[in-house]
Amino acid sequence: MSLKNVINKDNIPCHIAIIMDGNGRWAIKRGNSRILGHKAGAISVRKVVEASLEIGVKYLTLYTFSTENWERPKIEITAIMALLEATINSEIEDLKKNNVKLLTIGDSAPLPINVMEKINYAINATSENTGLTLILALSYGAKQDIANAMRLIGKDVEKGIFSISNISIDTFGKYLSTANLPDPELLIRTGGEYRISNFLLWEIAYSELYFTETLWPDFDKEDFYKAILNYQKRERRYGKTSNQLTKMKNII
Ligand code: IPE
Ligand code: IPE
Ligand code: MG
Repeated sequence: MSLKNVINKDNIPCHIAIIMDGNGRWAIKRGNSRILGHKAGAISVRKVVEASLEIGVKYLTLYTFSTENWERPKIEITAIMALLEATINSEIEDLKKNNVKLLTIGDSAPLPINVMEKINYAINATSENTGLTLILALSYGAKQDIANAMRLIGKDVEKGIFSISNISIDTFGKYLSTANLPDPELLIRTGGEYRISNFLLWEIAYSELYFTETLWPDFDKEDFYKAILNYQKRERRYGKTSNQLTKMKNII
């Protein structure tokens, strides 16, 4: 039986973020080049998007390429960019059909022009969709995003349209690239590393973290449901005591 039937449909995380790690090791273990691992990883992306649609996740953010990944060998970067373009090309019709709205976060400036054009085309073509919002974190770094938000605030203060005394958690968040997105309730990292690698630092302040040894190309729908089930067993206390939460529940 699929774990999908065990999940509580009333407690599906609205926003799930994933650090899709382990493509390279998956391929090397099989005696292949790392590039093949990225190709296999693209199939896992499709599975997780499908699963999100099936259970009604509203936002799915996928760490696709970090600012630090630009330091990888040129041959790997070129292959990842080509794969990205090819994947968007082959998936765009299904994204449209399945009511998926595509967005990106990150610094698009260093991306190859053809990749940028393809992505912009897909973003425009899916902009009216209202089902799942799929956010690709591409050339993304959370510290860079925070520094950029600070620069934007500084500019608005200089122009006199924003006052320093108005900087709050909410107004700061409006200057991040994730401004219009709710914070993720659940962050999943595959590939057995226990770190955040400069992903969504501000936004995951109170996310539930789920780490699995499974390498990204092996991650399938059941693994995804397993992570959600694990999330559903947790008590999100936000600094309160367990007793306080039980009392609040009884009042409601
Ligand atoms: C994640 O897999 C994909 C990207 C970072 C683009 P990796 O390529 O980091 O795979 P490992 O961690 O080396 O196995
Ligand atoms: C994080 O994985 C970036 C993506 C999944 C896109 P990395 O493999 O680049 O992270 P580190 O090097 O293990 O921190
Ligand atoms: Mg890695």
